Amino acid sequence: MSNLSVGAAHGKIILIGEHAVVYNKPAIAIPFTEVGAKAIIQEGGNDESGCRLNCKYFCGPFENAPEPLSGITACVHETLSYLQVEKPNITIRIESSIPSGRGLGSSAAIAYAVVKGLFRYYGHQANEDEILRLAQVAEIFAHGNPSGIDVVAVGSEGPIRFQKGKGAVPLPIGKTLHLVIADTGRFGDTRTAVESIRTLYEQDRLTTQRSLDLIEDFTYHCEQAMAKGDVKLVGCCLNLAQEELSALGVSDEGIDRLVDVARDSGALGAKLTGGGRGGCILALAADEQDALQLSISLKEAGATETYISRIGMSQHHYFEKAENERASES
Ligand code: MEV
Repeated sequence: MSNLSVGAAHGKIILIGEHAVVYNKPAIAIPFTEVGAKAIIQEGGNDESGCRLNCKYFCGPFENAPEPLSGITACVHETLSYLQVEKPNITIRIESSIPSGRGLGSSAAIAYAVVKGLFRYYGHQANEDEILRLAQVAEIFAHGNPSGIDVVAVGSEGPIRFQKGKGAVPLPIGKTLHLVIADTGRFGDTRTAVESIRTLYEQDRLTTQRSLDLIEDFTYHCEQAMAKGDVKLVGCCLNLAQEELSALGVSDEGIDRLVDVARDSGALGAKLTGGGRGGCILALAADEQDALQLSISLKEAGATETYISRIGMSQHHYFEKAENERASES
């Protein structure tokens, strides 16, 4: 056991396959290393030998934490029980630069960072499968029926294909992808979005299944195109997936508007990313210059924030750099 430990995770971008992944289809996710979450675990802070939480929304003993934090408190309790710690007497400080409710993996990254931090604090050898299972406890509270892609993606070192029950496979990238992420400025409730597709699925199984099958096809073609470095085809797959996500009812006016602006401003493809119904869009640019221009156009069109992410063979380097920076900041 050490007096202080840090667990860190980055954000995630779902390139293609969101929602279909809940129905056992594959999806492609990418580490979003421009933002991240950090959990700092320190000895003391709770006289009753329990846990104290310090974060943006709440500072105090766990038992007084408000309901929206019940996912993270349940995750900590489960982790402590796994580590066989009965009287922790610790303070968990959470810092995150990942905007919450934007489909960028905020809740998953916090859970992953906390679990990893606790493993380190108690000197327990990190077993990735256990960390994912424990982080998923918080995700089940947050999203109801999560596929599991978010907790895997926030700890991954490069692009992955994820499928429920099959786990993650690293994906080769033939040519760097320049992605612009633009925030609608509105909270996207993933739980409601997932539930709305479930309702649709029960009401009209045939049509819903067709959209999910099509997204699976586009995901498959996207993966092939990424490997070959065919950036135009990747963009085409993103556009087609967006059509199906719209048909499934998880896009909305604000998302559609930013998607249109991105396409009119030269994006090779654009779609929502994550749960939708608010949150963020992603747009694929041909190169760095186009990405900068797209970012300006999206801001002019009302995006509250934009980020540029470069997905290439050097992603591993970005991951290491971000992880080291976050650890040394504490
Ligand atoms: C959320 O980031 C991705 C969804 O597919 C839900 C999930 O997979 O749990 C919308």
